Amino acid sequence: MQSPSHIRSFVRRNGRMTPSQQLAYTDLWSHYGIEPDGVLDLNAIFARTQPKHLEIGFGMGDALIAMAQQHPDVDYIGIDVHLPGFGKVLKQIEAEQLSNIRLINGDAVLLLQHHLAIASLDAVYLFFPDPWHKKRHNKRRLVQPDFVELLASRLKVGGLFHLATDWQDYAEQMLQVVEACPHFQNLTAPNSYAPRPADRPLTKFELRGQRHGHGVWDLRYQKIEPTQD
Ligand SMILES: C[S@@+](CC[C@H](N)C(=O)[O-])C[C@H]1O[C@@H](n2cnc3c(N)ncnc32)[C@H](O)[C@@H]1O
Repeated sequence: MQSPSHIRSFVRRNGRMTPSQQLAYTDLWSHYGIEPDGVLDLNAIFARTQPKHLEIGFGMGDALIAMAQQHPDVDYIGIDVHLPGFGKVLKQIEAEQLSNIRLINGDAVLLLQHHLAIASLDAVYLFFPDPWHKKRHNKRRLVQPDFVELLASRLKVGGLFHLATDWQDYAEQMLQVVEACPHFQNLTAPNSYAPRPADRPLTKFELRGQRHGHGVWDLRYQKIEPTQD
């Protein structure tokens, strides 16, 4: 994908794949990996017209795999830049014979900007995005007004935007930014966090946070047509 001119929300770490993850990557990337060139035709990619859900920053893929297993009638696109996660998910795809996942290695901002059509998604998940907790790094957080506006444009009306974080300060920023976007309505109540949805799969990342005594904040929004005043 095109090189970004915006501030990046990630650092490409030199995480190594295990030999079996590497093998899965070599064998399966050509089938399950998407290398975007122009605007993607998601129905053509999955060869069906089922709902399309995007997970931004799937990490090691725990949530992505669990959701794809639980909902075979939904197509999932996962994007990240963390290589070992690709190996792990591809291994699972093969082991579980999952046909409803495709992966993209790249920056979600560029994917949304250049490669996803307006109103092409039924749901977007953003689970535990990098918190960039130092004040001077806060500008690298993904959830900013421009990003949320862009994301809203790629969702269908009625589509879901589900965020979760274990950093209270980031949770407050998410609430403030998404509430201010006229394209989203809080599914819980205005200005409120959602109870932890039973269907959000627990990731190792969240478990680790729990062991460190972190709270978790879920936010669930529906894309709406803004009212014309
Ligand atoms: C803190 S980890 C959480 C991983 C996973 N969601 C979980 O709950 O275990 C955040 C992930 O988001 C990815 N990420 C951050 N910014 C991204 C971006 N702009 N595009 C794609 N992935 C991104 C990182 O590489 C990392 O794997």
